[in-house]
Amino acid sequence: GQWFEQGQSLKGKKVVVTAGGTVERLDPVRYLTNDSSGKMGYAIAEAAASRGANVTLIAARTTAEAIGGVKLVKVESAEQMLQAVLEHYDDADLVVKAAAVADYRPVAAADKKIKKSDERLVLELVRTTDILQTIGQRKRGQFLVGFAAETDQVEHYAMDKLHRKHCDLIIANNVAEAGAGFNFDTNIVSVYGVEGLVESLPLMQKRQVADRLLEIIIQRMQAREA
Ligand code: CTP
Ligand code: CA
Repeated sequence: GQWFEQGQSLKGKKVVVTAGGTVERLDPVRYLTNDSSGKMGYAIAEAAASRGANVTLIAARTTAEAIGGVKLVKVESAEQMLQAVLEHYDDADLVVKAAAVADYRPVAAADKKIKKSDERLVLELVRTTDILQTIGQRKRGQFLVGFAAETDQVEHYAMDKLHRKHCDLIIANNVAEAGAGFNFDTNIVSVYGVEGLVESLPLMQKRQVADRLLEIIIQRMQAREA
């Protein structure tokens, strides 16, 4: 049945949201990162808090504005984000992984500024740990939502990520579409569940996207508890 009145539908629930682009250091003054603004994750954290959830927002580099009513944990690298997520994972009810996590990091971060020398410089990178896959493997009742940024074959890759990372939902953005994805205030997403496409949302403000996503998520969490 219905948990709570409208507006407090996540009361008593612990929600963990990751946001922003990770920063992978080369040396004390240089790093690798990506175009993620963090806005989608911040919008989801805000929407969850407005529904009464106890929200922990684990944020890497972001241009999003701080929001009240959520616990903010700032991190830099994929490795730091992994540790922070693991610290908050066990008692979480819902985890939304909106962060753009680097797939590769420099093999080592120099502790002093790298001086220029030869005409060419080859950087050696190594794969980061997949945070979502790691927590998906140790799921104990958490409702797990991942994102997928794709330029093509959106459904194929989204479903592959859903299964590989043991997610309950995957939110796919086609980053090749105008007005979608990194650095926009708007987004165009499609929601995938184990059964395939759940819903395709039109171009919307990220805060509105967050509200609709939470409605879908809450409905499924409730159905599972019923
Ligand atoms: N993700 C993660 N840890 C990583 C890489 C990705 O937790 N090291 C998460 C992202 O936060 C996102 C989901 O996995 O929720 C999908 O990210 P995406 O970059 O689209 O997929 P990848 O599995 O990294 O595959 P690829 O980049 O090759 O498409
Ligand atoms: Ca990736």
